[in-house]
Formats: sequence, C-alpha cells, structure tokens
Amino acid sequence: MASSSSTVHVTLFALAFLLSVHNLFPLASAFEFQVGDLKGWSMPPKNDTGFYNEWASRNRFCPGDTIRFSYRKDSVMEVREEEYKKCNATQPLYFSNTGNTLIELNRSGSFYFISGSSGHCQRGQRMIIVVLSPEDGPGGDTHGKSTSGAVAVAVAAAAAPALVLLGQFVMMSLDSMF
Ligand SMILES: *[C@@H]1O[C@H](CO)[C@@H](O)[C@H](O)[C@H]1NC(C)=O
Ligand SMILES: *[C@@H]1O[C@H](CO)[C@@H](O)[C@H](O)[C@H]1NC(C)=O
Ligand SMILES: *[C@@H]1O[C@H](CO)[C@@H](O)[C@H](O)[C@H]1NC(C)=O
Repeated sequence: MASSSSTVHVTLFALAFLLSVHNLFPLASAFEFQVGDLKGWSMPPKNDTGFYNEWASRNRFCPGDTIRFSYRKDSVMEVREEEYKKCNATQPLYFSNTGNTLIELNRSGSFYFISGSSGHCQRGQRMIIVVLSPEDGPGGDTHGKSTSGAVAVAVAAAAAPALVLLGQFVMMSLDSMF
C-alpha cells in the first residue's frame, strides 16, 4: 500500500513537473534549442528514421523560441505540410546551407523542416515542430527552466488553478517521502 501510493505520487510529481517547468516564469526569455542535441542535423540511422520527430516531441516550443541546426555538407528547408509529406524540395519557403542555421519560431502552429540534400529527407532527416499557442499553457507564452521541481510545482499551484489539486497531491507526496 505504502509503496504503490508513493509510486503514484512520484508519477504525479513527474507529471506536474513536466506540465509546469516550461510555462511558469514570466521573466524568462526565449529559449534556443539545438536540433538533435549532440547529433546535430544529419541523416539518422536506418533503424531510427523517427529520430528528429522524437527529439521534437521531447521538447516544448513557445513562440519566440529559436532552433539551431548544426550540420556539414547538408541543408535545411522549411516547407509546407504537403511538401514535407512528399519530401518535395523544389519550392521551399526557406532554405539555408551555411552549416549553422538559426530559425525563430515566430508564431504558434506547425513548422515543417526537411533536408534539401538528395535522398536525406526520404531517409528520415525531417521534422515537424509544433509551437504552442499562448492559450495552451497556464503561463501564456512565457517559459523557462527550473532546477527545482518542488519550486516549479509550488509556483504551478499558486499560478494555475487547474494545477492546484495536482500540486496538493505532490506536496502530500513530498511530505510522505521526507
Ligand atoms: C539501431 O541499431 C543500433 C546498432 O545495431 C542500436 O544500437 C540502436 O539501439 C538501434 N536504435 C533503434 C532506435 O532501434
Ligand atoms: C513539389 O511541389 C511543387 C510546389 O510546391 C509542385 O509544383 C510540384 O508539383 C511538387 N512535385 C511533386 C513531385 O509533388
Ligand atoms: C515569421 O518569419 C517569417 C520569415 O522571416 C516571415 O515571413 C513571417 O511573416 C513571420 N511571421 C510572423 C507571424 O511574424
């Protein structure tokens, strides 16, 4: 009983942390993401063609954030959804092949990126970025990073009525854990 309820509490804690950490700090400025983290922007392995969309789904993007593509002998294109689906690189909305491309996510909604190098998009070098609208989060389009989950959750509880109940669960779990 004790162990299963603490498992639930830890799960709630993790959930509240994820919900709150990116949307709570009005003073935080725009965040720059490194596309693919250390891997940068390059063709993924054959058994991992979803690599870039998995990377994107692990992050929360807000309007005003930027994404940096680092690559060699390759390129970045922003395209429309139809062109993304077909890996059609004939008429990109935006093209860069400088090796170091910074793109501002200047609106909410979806952005579609593909490599312009022959065959690369077909082999998984493409990515959809979904940028949250200000209505999607309790803190509007502001966000930031926190090193303390407890602080983030406490702020979440204070700032967002929808998270108060969750926050109380988390505080209970903290009480029982320590
Ligand atoms: C792809 O294959 C490599 C080498 O066999 C392996 O280490 C890696 O875990 C695999 N990745 C995925 C996503 O299956
Ligand atoms: C690629 O996209 C362009 C316009 O964006 C279109 O004119 C062309 O027909 C498309 N090619 C294919 C093969 O779908
Ligand atoms: C975002 O930036 C692009 C490229 O600079 C521009 O064409 C577009 O109008 C901008 N959108 C908004 C909503 O500012």
